[in-house]
Amino acid sequence: MPFTNQRSIATLEANDPSTSGESPSMSDSSDIATAPASPTSHLVEIENVYLELGGVKILDSVSLNVSRGEVVVLVGPSGAGKTSLLRTVNGLNPITSGSVEVDGIEVQQRDEAAGTTQRKLKGPQLRSARKEIGFVFQHFNLFPHLTALDNIAHAPRKVLGLSKEEARERGLQLLERVGLENRAHTKPSRLSGGQKQRVAIARALAMRPRLMLFDEPTSALDPEMVGEVLDVMRELAQDQMTMMVVTHEMGFAREVADRLVVMADGHIVEEGRPADVFSNPKHERTKAFFSRIL
Ligand SMILES: Nc1ncnc2c1ncn2[C@@H]1O[C@H](COP(=O)(O)OP(=O)(O)OP(=O)(O)O)[C@@H](O)[C@H]1O
Ligand SMILES: [Mg+2]
Repeated sequence: MPFTNQRSIATLEANDPSTSGESPSMSDSSDIATAPASPTSHLVEIENVYLELGGVKILDSVSLNVSRGEVVVLVGPSGAGKTSLLRTVNGLNPITSGSVEVDGIEVQQRDEAAGTTQRKLKGPQLRSARKEIGFVFQHFNLFPHLTALDNIAHAPRKVLGLSKEEARERGLQLLERVGLENRAHTKPSRLSGGQKQRVAIARALAMRPRLMLFDEPTSALDPEMVGEVLDVMRELAQDQMTMMVVTHEMGFAREVADRLVVMADGHIVEEGRPADVFSNPKHERTKAFFSRIL
C-alpha cells in the first residue's frame, strides 16, 4: 500500500517533544481539515518574508511558492537561513514582515509599513495550521520512554482523538511502510539512527500532513544508514507528498527534487531544475557552494 497524501492532521507538537506539553483543544483537531482548499495550485506561498532574530536579519525578502506534490530541495552554506525558512513555514519563527500561507491558510502575515505587525494566527489557530505540516529534524526528537509504535500513535490519539486501536492500527501500517514492522515495541535507545529517523518520519506521517518539512534528516546518520532514510523519502515523493527538504545529499536532490533552491545570506540566490542548476550554476554563491561540496 503506498503512502497516502491525505488531508492532514499533523501537529508540530507531535513531532517535537519540546512542545508536547501543550494539550490542544478538541477544536484544534477538526477545523483546518475541513477548510476549503486554496484555489491556487500552490500549497505553500511565501511572500517577501523578512525575519529578524535578536536584532539580526536572518531572512531577507524571501519569496517562494511550492506547488502541490512538488519536492523542493533547499541547499546553501551554513548560516544561509535554510532552517530558519522551514521554521517560518510552520510558524515557529514569527516573521518581521511578509506572509506565509499553507494550503490557503495564513500561517503568518505581517506588514510593518502599514503598522499592522500582528501575527494573524494565534494559539489554537496556529496549532491547527501546524497540523498540516510534518516536520522531521536532524536529531529525530523521539520520545525516549515510548516504543516506536507508541511514538507514532501518541499524537493521533491525543490530538486527533483516535481510539487506542485506531491509532495502533495506523501506527503499525506506517511502521510497515518504513520497513520497521518488527520494531514496533522497541524503544528508541535500541534503534539505530536510520531506524530512529524512519520512526520519526512515520510519526509525522501519522498525522496525515499535507506538507512535509525535512531539515537535514540524514546529517546525523552513519553513512550506511543514509540510504534507507532517503529511500523512504523518495517513496513519499513518488506518492506526491509535497516536500521541502534541506539536505546535503546532492544525489537525492538531483534525482528526486523538482526544484533546487540555493540560499545564501538569508536570500534565495538561485533556483531551477536540479540538472540545470548543477550543470550551469549562475550565481557566484552557488558556484562557490558547489565547489566546496561536489
Ligand atoms: N534564534 C536565533 N537568534 C539569533 N540568530 C539566529 C537564531 N537562529 C538562527 N540564527 C542565525 O540565523 C542565521 C541562519 O541560521 P539557520 O540555522 O537558518 O541557517 P542554516 O542555513 O540552516 O545553516 P546550517 O546549514 O548550519 O544548518 C545564522 O546566522 C544563525 O546564526
Ligand atoms: Mg540548518
